[in-house]
Order: sequence, then structure tokens, then C-alpha cells
Amino acid sequence: MPKIEIVASILSADLTRLGEHVKEAEAAGADRIQVDIMDGRFVPNITFGPLVVEAVRRSTQMPIEAHLMIVEPERYVPEFASAGADVIIVHQEATPHLHRAIQQIHHLGKKAGVAINPSTPAAMLEDIMGDVDSVLVMTVNPGFGGQEFIAETLSKIARVRQMIVERGLACDIEVDGGISAATAPRVVQAGANLLVSGAFIFSSREGVAAAIRRLREGVKS
Ligand code: DX5
Repeated sequence: MPKIEIVASILSADLTRLGEHVKEAEAAGADRIQVDIMDGRFVPNITFGPLVVEAVRRSTQMPIEAHLMIVEPERYVPEFASAGADVIIVHQEATPHLHRAIQQIHHLGKKAGVAINPSTPAAMLEDIMGDVDSVLVMTVNPGFGGQEFIAETLSKIARVRQMIVERGLACDIEVDGGISAATAPRVVQAGANLLVSGAFIFSSREGVAAAIRRLREGVKS
């Protein structure tokens, strides 16, 4: 089982003090930062562009993931690469040219991830799984932070882990949406190792450090 990592999603961060909030997550032991890019078409919300990735890049040494929830992501991959993203994640449902998009990301020297929505079966990953560094199984319908975890995604996480093991691949499984101290142990049990969390980390009353500590304690093997 690959190393379990906590990925703090800034969608729920206080954007009036984004740099500080990112540094707080880093000091509290987060392993990566995720920046959710939404275009109002692939998902019913509009969020950030490359400028925000640049701002996060200036605030931290942690690896930055750009999670592209945009149609035709290949149009903007170079911008997010030069903005400082270390990992670029595209949705399987967003482009008919997924293999080309993954190659494009690797040619720019970045890590590539492929994401699937809750209604997309694991089987859609069959012919791309060997080309990516991570598979992101959405555990909510993408577009908003603070949504409820969809428990039906647990069996899909287990299926993806089985596919990775059967092929002898070193591919991470990332989960995103509704990840908290209550749901983190269940997704890890199913086979996930990269845990994206936004609202639980940045919006909980106990603060960022306590939230990350609880997430880690819940998944300690
Ligand atoms: C939702 C985004 C998530 C979100 C995290 O479309 O992809 O990254 O920020 O969600 P919560 O707040 O549920 O942890």
C-alpha cells in the first residue's frame, strides 16, 4: 500500500489570506495542496485560473495539484504547468483525447492524474491506467466543497485498487469530496492513499492543525 498523504484543497480556504492558510496547512503536516480549477461548463461553478496556482506556488514548497474540472483541458495544460503545478489532473469525461492530454502533461515534465466522476465506472480507466501517476476517484459530484460523501464510491475505490494490483502498477489512488475524520478510514480501507480534504481542514471550528491531526490519526495503520 503506497504512503498515505493528506492533500489540502484550497476551495474552502479563506481566500482573503490564502498564503497564510496554505502555510498553516503545511506547518500542520499536509503533504500536498490541491487547486480546483472550474470553468462553469464541465461543472456548474467557476473558481480559479493559473494566477491562483502561481500565488500558491509562491506560498509553499509542497507539491501542488491542479485539478482541472474544465472541458478540453488540453487547451490549458501548458499554462498550469508554467504556473507551477507539479501534478495536473484531467477528467476522463472532459476530453475525447485523454491519452494525448496525459502525454502532453508528461512532456512538460509534470505528473499526470486522471479523474472519474461518481457515475463513471472504473472500467473506463482500463487503457489509460498504465500511463498515469494517479487515479482520482471523485467521492462527490464535482463542483462544490462541503458536500456529503457518496458511500457507493467505496466499492469503486476497491475495484480500482484491484486493477492496479493485477497490473503490478505503482499508481496512487486519490479520493476527493466529503473526506473527514469519519470517512478517511473507510476510503483507506477500500484502497485509497491520497486523501483530498477541503471543508474538513479549512472550515472546521477546531482549526487546520487539529483537523489534519484527526485525519492522520484516523488512518494510522
Ligand atoms: C469538489 C472539489 C473538491 C473540494 C473538496 O468538486 O473537487 O476538491 O474542494 O471537497 P470537500 O470540501 O468535500 O473536502
